[in-house]
Amino acid sequence: MFFKHLLFLGSVSILLSSAASKKPGPPRKTCTVKALGGGQDDGPNILAAFKSCSSNALINLDTYYLVDTLLLTTGLNNVEINLSGTVQYTPDIAKWSPQSLFLTYQNATTFWFLSGNNIHLYGGGTIDGNGQVWWDTLSNSHNSGTAGGSSTTFARPIPLTVGNATNVVVENITEIGSPFWNNFVYQSRNVTYKNIHINSVSYSSSPTANSDGWDIYRSDQVTIMDSVVNNDDDCVSFKPNSTNILVSNMHCNGSHGISVGSLGQYAGETDIVENVTVRNIIMNNAQNGARIKVFGGSPNPNSTAGGGTGHVRNITYENYQVSNVENPIVLDQCYSTDPQVCAQFPSTVTISDIHFINVTGTSSGQNGAVVVDLECSANCTDITATGTNLVAPNATAEFICKNIVSTAELDFNCISPSAF
Ligand SMILES: *[C@@H]1O[C@H](CO)[C@@H](O)[C@H](O)[C@H]1NC(C)=O
Ligand SMILES: *[C@@H]1O[C@H](CO)[C@@H](O)[C@H](O)[C@H]1NC(C)=O
Ligand SMILES: *[C@@H]1O[C@H](CO)[C@@H](O)[C@H](O)[C@H]1NC(C)=O
Ligand SMILES: *[C@@H]1O[C@H](CO)[C@@H](O)[C@H](O)[C@H]1NC(C)=O
Ligand SMILES: *[C@@H]1O[C@H](CO)[C@@H](O)[C@H](O)[C@H]1NC(C)=O
Ligand SMILES: *[C@@H]1O[C@H](CO)[C@@H](O)[C@H](O)[C@H]1NC(C)=O
Ligand SMILES: *[C@@H]1O[C@H](CO)[C@@H](O)[C@H](O)[C@H]1NC(C)=O
Ligand SMILES: *[C@@H]1O[C@H](CO)[C@@H](O)[C@H](O)[C@H]1NC(C)=O
Ligand SMILES: *[C@@H]1O[C@H](CO)[C@@H](O)[C@H](O)[C@H]1NC(C)=O
Ligand SMILES: *[C@@H]1O[C@H](CO)[C@@H](O)[C@H](O)[C@H]1NC(C)=O
Ligand SMILES: *[C@@H]1O[C@H](CO)[C@@H](O)[C@H](O)[C@H]1NC(C)=O
Ligand SMILES: *[C@@H]1O[C@H](CO)[C@@H](O)[C@H](O)[C@H]1NC(C)=O
Repeated sequence: MFFKHLLFLGSVSILLSSAASKKPGPPRKTCTVKALGGGQDDGPNILAAFKSCSSNALINLDTYYLVDTLLLTTGLNNVEINLSGTVQYTPDIAKWSPQSLFLTYQNATTFWFLSGNNIHLYGGGTIDGNGQVWWDTLSNSHNSGTAGGSSTTFARPIPLTVGNATNVVVENITEIGSPFWNNFVYQSRNVTYKNIHINSVSYSSSPTANSDGWDIYRSDQVTIMDSVVNNDDDCVSFKPNSTNILVSNMHCNGSHGISVGSLGQYAGETDIVENVTVRNIIMNNAQNGARIKVFGGSPNPNSTAGGGTGHVRNITYENYQVSNVENPIVLDQCYSTDPQVCAQFPSTVTISDIHFINVTGTSSGQNGAVVVDLECSANCTDITATGTNLVAPNATAEFICKNIVSTAELDFNCISPSAF
């Protein structure tokens, strides 16, 4: 290897080498961050490395780092991050609540905003959100902030947000103890996650809260594959304007399922979820399997509880195996809305072109005999199911449908909710 320079800038060593890439062009820079140890904050040195190595570079995070500073790593271009060590955020609620980065969706905030073009984060390392303290505090204070998310006195930051980014791959990373959602894909395009292991499990009597594996918002071309999620909220959730998404080879345990929505919450807003394939899923011990949730309509033009417009179109759930799941298939177009309001003001988020292929397994029995519940408030069109083989533990399975324009392409016999 040909070393041009080896510099030390505080605890960041910077190596310029041209041998690493055999291609001609500028040498690739390598920044390796040393840990300070003794409970000191490694955040400033990590930020210095992202600044020095922001373009055509490799950043090595190869040891244990304690981070007490917002990681706002933006403007990256052609950067590899080899996280073979551990990034652990301090559980300092008073400090993080105001300093975490506020995002413009549900007042979510983040510890790390990873942003730029052509970013590859990998290495087998761990991101540790130190969530136990946040869950315990939430449980004791019931301070859920705004919209279940955050306030400046009690924010629960997301450990990794890929935001305002294009062409990103995140692979071979473990995430533990997230105070809130584990991953947020925010205003980004072409983002792939592979081989991610998520564990959001509380070791006290306080439950975890909002421990979604992934939330996707205003993002296009997102792939999540070959991953394992152990949590207590959505395994993956497609929020407003998630398009061209593939989720495959996932093993979800304890979750609330893989969900479209909720959508249509805010009057005057247009929410789109389109072209989603969810395939080869094992869903165990969960509240839901395949779920679509959309608010009802509203007479109030300023409503924050339904009345938004948009569409859910071309969604496929395929090869989906459930075990001990309360609602294996659930579509609710009157989500969190009074049924009488929905009767008068059906949802203005349309639902069409929805396909359930080879969804099999056993419900928990929590919902009696019901294993499929498809309830639209407006008419839902082109809903199909093939290869459905769902059973309830102690009863003959029941399938509920309402306002499904044609049930001819469903391979089960629908009963209406009133009969149930
Ligand atoms: C990442 O860094 C670790 C530790 O330095 C090293 O063993 C590993 O080979 C690196 N991974 C890649 C793909 O370069
Ligand atoms: C975010 O919080 C502010 C006040 O802190 C509140 O006015 C606003 O409605 C919240 N936004 C959402 C989307 O909940
Ligand atoms: C993300 O992009 C939006 C729109 O361009 C911009 O307003 C916002 O400041 C960006 N956020 C960050 C943290 O860079
Ligand atoms: C998506 O990003 C990957 C990784 O950076 C890149 O190899 C691929 O060409 C990109 N695809 C598109 C369609 O831009
Ligand atoms: C990710 O892990 C897989 C399986 O261990 C390995 O084959 C692959 O090379 C790793 N990717 C990187 C970029 O280190
Ligand atoms: C979603 O995309 C549509 C069409 O581009 C746009 O009109 C709408 O404002 C977007 N909604 C959100 C929540 O970003
Ligand atoms: C539906 O979405 C899938 C990707 O999930 C895409 O391959 C397919 O072309 C889309 N079909 C239509 C009719 O848009
Ligand atoms: C959905 O996929 C179809 C077929 O590939 C494509 O024509 C359409 O533009 C996609 N929709 C969005 C919102 O990207
Ligand atoms: C909606 O909000 C606008 C602007 O704040 C206000 O002028 C209007 O009176 C509100 N309408 C209703 C029905 O509350
Ligand atoms: C149905 O899905 C299961 C996994 O859930 C898979 O093993 C099986 O091969 C699929 N059957 C068909 C006909 O694709
Ligand atoms: C089903 O019935 C068996 C035998 O009566 C009982 O032990 C079991 O708890 C029941 N399971 C559920 C989920 O109701
Ligand atoms: C659903 O379609 C039927 C038949 O076209 C129509 O009579 C009914 O009013 C529609 N219902 C809603 C809620 O749009």
